[in-house]
Amino acid sequence: MDKIIIEGGNRLIGEVKISGSKNAALPILSAALLTDDWNTFYNVPKLKDIDTIKTLLLYIGTEIEESGNALKIRTKTLKSPGAPYELVKTMRASSLALGPLLTRFKRARVSLPGGCAIGARPMNLHLMALEKMGAEIKIESGYINAEADRLKGARIRFDITTVTGTENIMMAAALADGVTILENAAQEPEVVELANVLNKMGGYIKGAGSDCITIEGVDRLKPTTYTIMPDRIEAGTFMIAAGMTEGDILIKNCPIRNLEALTVKLREAEVEIQTENGGVRVKGNNSLRSVDIKTSPYPGFPTDMQAQMMAMMSIAKGLSVITETVFENRFMHVSELRRMGADIRIDGRNAIVKGKPYLSGAPVMATDLRASASLILAGLAAEGKTEVSRVYHLDRGYERIEEKLKGLGAKIKRVKT
Ligand code: EPU
Repeated sequence: MDKIIIEGGNRLIGEVKISGSKNAALPILSAALLTDDWNTFYNVPKLKDIDTIKTLLLYIGTEIEESGNALKIRTKTLKSPGAPYELVKTMRASSLALGPLLTRFKRARVSLPGGCAIGARPMNLHLMALEKMGAEIKIESGYINAEADRLKGARIRFDITTVTGTENIMMAAALADGVTILENAAQEPEVVELANVLNKMGGYIKGAGSDCITIEGVDRLKPTTYTIMPDRIEAGTFMIAAGMTEGDILIKNCPIRNLEALTVKLREAEVEIQTENGGVRVKGNNSLRSVDIKTSPYPGFPTDMQAQMMAMMSIAKGLSVITETVFENRFMHVSELRRMGADIRIDGRNAIVKGKPYLSGAPVMATDLRASASLILAGLAAEGKTEVSRVYHLDRGYERIEEKLKGLGAKIKRVKT
């Protein structure tokens, strides 16, 4: 298992280019299951989660050709209509195969994911929606077995906004008979990106980006070519890196329009953000101020930035209240940040962070993807040496992160243990 070792205290200065979005790429690659000829996707990030979805697609019968960050992908015939437990337990987004398989091949057998480090994360809303569209669903031996001759359009209201739930049903509805209306749909940019791809494939989807999406089913979709948007969470993580290290980073390929909730808070915290030719310049200084944060679905403050923001608040002046409303257990990084000297108290869904003048390096353990990023950020700003273990979590979602940080002047290295 690899470890990342950071010697903290260096200002991060220079340019960094943001990679393709993980959470856009995962549903888009799954959407290739809806067509029978070669699709080409560019700017696919090289990440563990992308390897997992590729393994899943190969298992299903997809052919994949790879060249740099481009993937050519075709599913002509079905080998297996499902996602096995081994893959779903390493990556819950494997459940994104459910909608496409069921709608194109009339059956799907996808493992139920089970619990997760950040919350229970059930799939009841995905299943409720598919049942409303006429699927027959049975849970047997830990698997969802779904069948439908042809899914039928339906009006579906999600009680809770769900990102992959919205994406799964959008894909299922793209080849269904009739019109599907999704109410209280997720408005995340990654949902819009998937709708763009489905529309380029000849689908008929309107309203993506709002809370009501209408999908008119078609008989057939055609293959397409698409360049995946940059990763807003990676960009946000580099913004915080600049803020925490008194840095000056030009972030290239930065999807700033999708980061409004974060940039408002960063500016309030006295981080300077300016759009200029070629990117977004982010500058930190030594007078970071505390701000309160409450996570919520897009366009609210992203839960995927909560841990990184908490690392920053650990060294800001004043008291910050961070409220997590999306996942019930997404404070696993708190005890690790405390080991580095952070003063954080948890009270239910709130974390109360009292900023300290500095953190001190320590051996810490990553518990999930974004928690890992927060520990790396804390390590970059801390005095002394930080050793982050279990970094396989980090490799799921950040492409070449040590290389990119090193390019900005960080003293960071990966060691095999
Ligand atoms: N929920 C239900 N029932 C369902 C589906 C969801 O109760 O059937 C609940 C969840 O338990 C959670 C809330 O709804 O409390 C929101 O979950 P959502 O379904 O939106 O999350 P997701 O689709 O599983 C995606 C991202 C996550 C990101 C969340 C929230 C992908 C592949 N994953 O997960 O990304 O945190 O949306 O924005 O898009 C990450 O990249 O680190 C990551 C965890």
